[in-house]
Amino acid sequence: SNLKPTIFIIFGGTGDLNKRKLAPALYNLYTENYMPGKFAIIGTGRTTYTNAQYREEILHSVNEFSRNGEVQKERWDVFEKNIHYISVDIEQQKTFEDLKEAIVNLQEQFGPDTQTIFYLAVAPNFFPLIAECLHKYKLTSDEEKCRIVIEKPFGHDLESAKKLNCLLSAIFTEKQIYRIDHYLGKETVQNMMAFRFANSLFEPLWNRTYIEHVQISVTEQLGVGERGGYYEDAGALRDMIQNHLLQLLCLVGMEAPISFNADEIRDRKVEVLKAMRPFKPENVSLQAVRGQYGKGWIEGKEVPGYRSEKDVDPESNTETFAAIKFFIDNWRWQGVPFYLRTGKRLNQTSSTITIQFRDVPHHIFATSSIESWQQNRLIISIQPEMSIRLQVQSKRPGLNMILNPVDMIFNYKGTYDNNTPEAYETLLLDVMTGDQTLFMRGDQVETAWELVMPIINLWENKKSLNFPNYAADSWGPEEAEALIAKDGFYWFTLPVKE
Ligand code: BG6
Repeated sequence: SNLKPTIFIIFGGTGDLNKRKLAPALYNLYTENYMPGKFAIIGTGRTTYTNAQYREEILHSVNEFSRNGEVQKERWDVFEKNIHYISVDIEQQKTFEDLKEAIVNLQEQFGPDTQTIFYLAVAPNFFPLIAECLHKYKLTSDEEKCRIVIEKPFGHDLESAKKLNCLLSAIFTEKQIYRIDHYLGKETVQNMMAFRFANSLFEPLWNRTYIEHVQISVTEQLGVGERGGYYEDAGALRDMIQNHLLQLLCLVGMEAPISFNADEIRDRKVEVLKAMRPFKPENVSLQAVRGQYGKGWIEGKEVPGYRSEKDVDPESNTETFAAIKFFIDNWRWQGVPFYLRTGKRLNQTSSTITIQFRDVPHHIFATSSIESWQQNRLIISIQPEMSIRLQVQSKRPGLNMILNPVDMIFNYKGTYDNNTPEAYETLLLDVMTGDQTLFMRGDQVETAWELVMPIINLWENKKSLNFPNYAADSWGPEEAEALIAKDGFYWFTLPVKE
């Protein structure tokens, strides 16, 4: 590709994210000829490794986690020469000198155009320290040549997010800061923009006149696994709703941008967040439900409850499930509820957006001819199935007039080659080309925090008395059903195919 020579510095180069996502993504970009002609990947971490040892580690990760399976030896042999390892102990500032030396050497080799990308795949408490060291050791340069990528969580609450934004903006301009929300890199999520703004069919219906309610549901079968330490201080609201689910909501709710320009698109998204109805403490209990999983059985295996997971307090108050009803106070969406739900150890792993349209204004069919009645729904399935369905009523073939709902389905599988790039491939390429469209701007992150803070404050200060309140393999606590049922709706789930 004709990208400028690039040096990728990965803080957390021995960590889980690099192993599972970043290294496989970089390798796949390379094999598909998206990497710059000249590039280097510098992994850093506290462990001491030689380059050879580190390359070996990365090879294992790529073989294990790449969507393309094992590497091709000839390609790998060339690729691995671009991987380096420098031991950096973030708390020992002088180790940054070694890093600097490595970067300067590569810059000399690659020429004056070289761009440097610092990827912070470390625990968030290290973000400030790293940013300060980069500054102090003069490792940063101008807007054109230097970028910083920040993994989530971006802040722990509104105040810390503001502080982090403030610190970063003392060193970098907003154009240099890439705040990751990996959901935005997902193929189906990117398609939301195309679907809404490259078709004339949906826009006339895309408002309160025709849409009755919206559901955004991201459910996972996995438990908290090895991440108890992080998750205890996060919980479902911080881990998923503040970022991923609210970003999905913005894509559904935003006005049409006038161009496909990063700031134009992000402006339209921030407007949605700004229009969202703030929570008053007395509304939290009416509009927000929290849950925590107990033990149970998943696919024939007994799984522990959250409170028995590694690094979790046996009396933990952390929620592993959240369901929240939001409103957007603007002309398009006034009065249309947006129900968001997410949780771990649920019955299915599935992310869907369901848009339910209003009922027909007048029913002409006799009740006897209705086998089952379903208002029109548009279902965008993000994962694992990648599809868009439109549910419509239809006459069953036969001599009687019998109606039932059918799905008009656009399925990626069958329509396209199924091997779609991973979110991180898209996002890393965007960082290299300098496209911020799929990254969160500082004000976006802060506005999202502002919205969820009243719920967080209340939940943290008021210990939940009924935790654990849902069993593994269920659909979460009963209150979550009640939250939506009291408005006359129910949570939609895509049937799992055997
Ligand atoms: C991460 C969360 O951001 O997203 C995890 O920290 C969660 O807790 C994950 O499991 C889900 O991502 P995906 O891509 O598997 O849906």
